[in-house]
Amino acid sequence: MVVAIPQTEFKPFLVSAPGKLILFGEHAVVYGKTAIAGSVSMRAYALVTPRSDSKVRLVLPDISVDVQFDTSKLPQLNPSELSHPCEVENHVGCASVPEGPGRMAVLTFVYLFGCLLAQKPTKGFTVCVRSLLPVGAGLGSSASFNVVLAAALLQLSGQLYKDGKSTADRQLINEWAFAGEQVAHGTPSGIDNSVATYGGFLAYTRGQKPQNLNSSNALRVLITNTNVPKSTKALLAGVRSLRDKHPQVIDGVLDTIHSVAISAISLFESQGEDVEEKLQDIIRLNHGMLSTLGVSHLSLERIREITAAHHMASKLTGAGGGGCALTLVPSNASDETVEDVKRMLAHEGFQCYQTTVGGAGVAISHCVGAQPIEEWVRSMLDRQLSLAPSTKSEDAGYGGVVSAFSILPDTAIAKLAP
Ligand code: PMV
Repeated sequence: MVVAIPQTEFKPFLVSAPGKLILFGEHAVVYGKTAIAGSVSMRAYALVTPRSDSKVRLVLPDISVDVQFDTSKLPQLNPSELSHPCEVENHVGCASVPEGPGRMAVLTFVYLFGCLLAQKPTKGFTVCVRSLLPVGAGLGSSASFNVVLAAALLQLSGQLYKDGKSTADRQLINEWAFAGEQVAHGTPSGIDNSVATYGGFLAYTRGQKPQNLNSSNALRVLITNTNVPKSTKALLAGVRSLRDKHPQVIDGVLDTIHSVAISAISLFESQGEDVEEKLQDIIRLNHGMLSTLGVSHLSLERIREITAAHHMASKLTGAGGGGCALTLVPSNASDETVEDVKRMLAHEGFQCYQTTVGGAGVAISHCVGAQPIEEWVRSMLDRQLSLAPSTKSEDAGYGGVVSAFSILPDTAIAKLAP
């Protein structure tokens, strides 16, 4: 049993966690096959600052949420007394939770606060979360939000002993982030929060503990958002109905996708010269099978066409039907070639992010000394971004994150410069 040491006084701290990319095995994973996912260097950031009163404030500028609660008005929750975390809805009582896109995020906050902090003497604080991840694009923006929130509240409750760096700390963060995912999504698989917590590459099979892959190589990729809205639910239903009609055929396809994921595991763990070429092969094969399942889209095929003309392999990532595609950037691709591809993709109206897969998981940094908040946040963002080995990329465009953090109340800023 963990004995919590409530932190009544604390210095501001910043938590960050990466998004995720499914590299291989989407859809098949739903039928018990293995999927491989990796962390992307685009991250979510939570800045936590103390307040002089007893209020807690949650600010999510990206989705226009700014709510404030008196700590005594928030429910005390015992997770073992709820049959599912989403039951938090029945316990919010008079606490005002807004309708709209931010509702789930606020409910998750209320749930985690109710479980982790409500029973302890807690001073007021403000949590401001910003994210560089596009929402609803299958890049795990919700999981990285839940990981930073869980880590922030666990840190405040005194339950993290090594600033989120030890195995025990990470396990705890992952468990609570999963509960947050359950508030938002009902029955998530758990792959997204595991990647956002541990970083690197994971092999995931339903009902089994995620397996960390021993890969020292971060992959250079392009993630292209088609901006075509997709419904994961409808796409899953489509695959299910095809399988109901042709069980033998579709089970064969799902088994082959599983074989692709298993090949990927050995490729990630090997150092051979032909690894990159083989990875390109299985990317193409996996996309072909997903297309057979009916989850590709004209926009995704266009991305494949453009990148193939530059000797790059692409596949859809996530549910498909639009959403995002991933493209492996070969190590011998010149900067000009990559820029060419990005320009052509942008010309089609797609949004293209150049990033790396396989960087660090959750990270916590504390403010020391009396630096002005903007300066400190900027230096921390630099340091936390460098945890996720980033090639020269659009990742540097985090000016918006810094300015959003600066909307924090004067009292919080004053505390930084005594
Ligand atoms: O695009 P996303 O993040 O909703 O990806 C869903 C991935 C699936 O394998 C299709 C479904 C799942 O729950 O694993």
